Parts: sequence; C-alpha cells; structure tokens
Amino acid sequence: MKPRNIVILTGAGVSAESGVPTFRGPDGLWEGHHIEAVATPQAFRRDPLLVQRFYDARRAALGKVVPNAAHLALARLDAEWRGELLLVTQNVDDLHERGGSQRLLHMHGELQRALCTACGTAPAWTGALSDDPPCPRCGAARLRPDIVWFGEMPYHMDEIEMAIGRCDLFVSIGTSGAVYPAAGFVTQAQRAGARTLEINLDPSAGTPLFDEARHGPAGTQVPKWVDEMLG
Ligand code: APR
Repeated sequence: MKPRNIVILTGAGVSAESGVPTFRGPDGLWEGHHIEAVATPQAFRRDPLLVQRFYDARRAALGKVVPNAAHLALARLDAEWRGELLLVTQNVDDLHERGGSQRLLHMHGELQRALCTACGTAPAWTGALSDDPPCPRCGAARLRPDIVWFGEMPYHMDEIEMAIGRCDLFVSIGTSGAVYPAAGFVTQAQRAGARTLEINLDPSAGTPLFDEARHGPAGTQVPKWVDEMLG
C-alpha cells in the first residue's frame, strides 16, 4: 500500500557529496578535532575562542558548497507529495533549504543562527562570532552558535514526535544512528505502525532495526527512491 504520511530523517551523509565533512570520519575526528572538544557546553566554557573559531570556519565554508542531487530530490518530493511530509535534519548546514525543502526542521540547530545567552534570542547570523559582536536585541556580547551540543536538548521534539506518531513511512538518510534521540526515531516509527527504510552509504549501527536498507551514495540512491515514490 502506498504510504501517505512520511517522516524523513537526514544526517551528515546527505551533505557529504556536497563536500561537507561528516562527523565520524575514519580517523574519528571532525575537521581535526575530537567532537567533545568543540561540541559540548563544557568545551565552550573552557575555551570559547576555539569553539567560536571552529564554528565561524564551518559557517564560512557554507559559501563554498551547494546542494547535491539528494537535497534536490528531497525538495521535489516535498513539493509534489500530497500527504503529510516532514524532513527532520540533524545537519546544521542550510543545504536542504537552499535545495528548496519547505517542510523542514533542524533538530540540532543551524550554523547560520546565533543564540544570545543573555536574552535567549536567536538571530539569523552569517558572519563571525569569535569577535564577540553585540546581540541585536539586548546588546550583550554573549552570542554563541545556535547549535545543539552534546548534553543539550534537541529542538522541535514535540512536533517531531507527533509527526512520527502519525507517519506510515519513516526514512533515515545518511546518518550513523549513533546519536540519540534521533537514533531512536526508527523504533518509535515502528511502534506507530510505520514501514521503515534506511538509505546510507554503508550499513549503520541501526541497519538491523529497519524493514529495508539500501546502501550507496545518497546522491544516487535518494533520487532513485524519490522517483519511485512519485512514479
Ligand atoms: N551517502 C550516504 N551516506 C553517507 C555518504 C553518502 N555519500 N557519506 C557518508 N555517509 C554516511 C556514513 O556512512 C555515516 O553512516 O553518513 C553517516 C554519517 O554519520 P555521522 O558522521 O555520524 O553523522 P550523523 O549521523 O549526522 O551525526 C549525528 O552527531 O556529532 C553529532 O550533532 C552531530 O548531528 C550530528 C549527530
């Protein structure tokens, strides 16, 4: 039976062919750093300049990458799918929105947003944060990247869990399944009665949990799957 309501979860693998490095490379490092050294509140307290510069570089690098065939195919599915559809991304890049996706939530925050630790506002931000610019709302020089670090609560969880509870197809694309709560979505979807599909370069930690797994680059596998869905 053709599904009606779809939830799609994406991870770093969907942006890999655009040239955005994944988190858990073969050397276990993220752009030369241990993840814990740049992606925890403790790291930010210990060495704010290092963390700000690290994310400033990631934000600046977005200007050199463009959406790939997987982002574009997911945007086409979003535009043409008549039922409910929610794209939940763990990625902090803006390639899904540049590809054209509309029904999209960033559960781990966005590189192109700052978060004021004084007043809580989260303004759009394309420049650097390492030079301690003032918050556009309250004026305090206490902006950090609006990124969900390890130990912090992901965004939009209520909305995501409601969509998973209603979906009849859950698709996970380009994620290692190593980080919760996203890694638990497949089980939640199955409990809600959904069919589950993994699309990943190679088998992930979560592969045995899915009803079906397709392995290969997202730039090839995702357009093929979208063609099937819309065909
Ligand atoms: N096509 C499809 N999958 C790919 C491709 C590709 N071209 N290249 C790599 N992959 C797969 C890898 O095999 C791996 O399973 O993408 C996955 C990327 O895994 P991670 O690097 O662990 O990234 P992700 O799952 O998004 O990480 C989750 O961890 O550090 C935190 O908050 C960060 O959002 C991130 C979260």
